[in-house]
Amino acid sequence: MAAQKQNQNKDDRLNIGLEDKQRSASADILNRVLSDQHVLYIKTRKYHWNVTGRNFYSLHELMEKQYDQLALSIDEVAERSRSMGYPAFGTMEEFGEFATLKEEPGVNPAAMQMVANLVSDHEQVIRNLRGFVDQTADELHDQGTSDFLTGLMEEHEKMAWMLRAFLEDEQNV
Ligand SMILES: [Fe+2]
Repeated sequence: MAAQKQNQNKDDRLNIGLEDKQRSASADILNRVLSDQHVLYIKTRKYHWNVTGRNFYSLHELMEKQYDQLALSIDEVAERSRSMGYPAFGTMEEFGEFATLKEEPGVNPAAMQMVANLVSDHEQVIRNLRGFVDQTADELHDQGTSDFLTGLMEEHEKMAWMLRAFLEDEQNV
């Protein structure tokens, strides 16, 4: 499990009404989310740098807004793992091992394919989060983390909508 790899750094002083087992499982989930968010952050930056075509400026700008938003969100996720008494991942190796999203080294798709790829990645994160929201509430009885993940899912839903709007525009031309 993700968080259990760093058991030696966990904090046992917490007395917040959750057993270590519950906090460990929640931190594990948070570190998995953190891993996918890093892949999405890097991909969004890569596309921001390399996008071309008639939508260059709007996409360049939108992608910048979104990677800035992802950076803030990433910080919240990492710090929630700390508030559960567990370390947050901070290496590319760990992010790569626990991410479910895929990268495409050496490939720069056409602008609309970039948008479609980002939509698809956000949607995968949203589906993962939907499962984690239920798991943290129903199995782990960690309502705080469940609520936190619900808010995070809504953020990704909004980012996916902003991107999806570009695809609809292409279809209507
Ligand atoms: Fe830039």
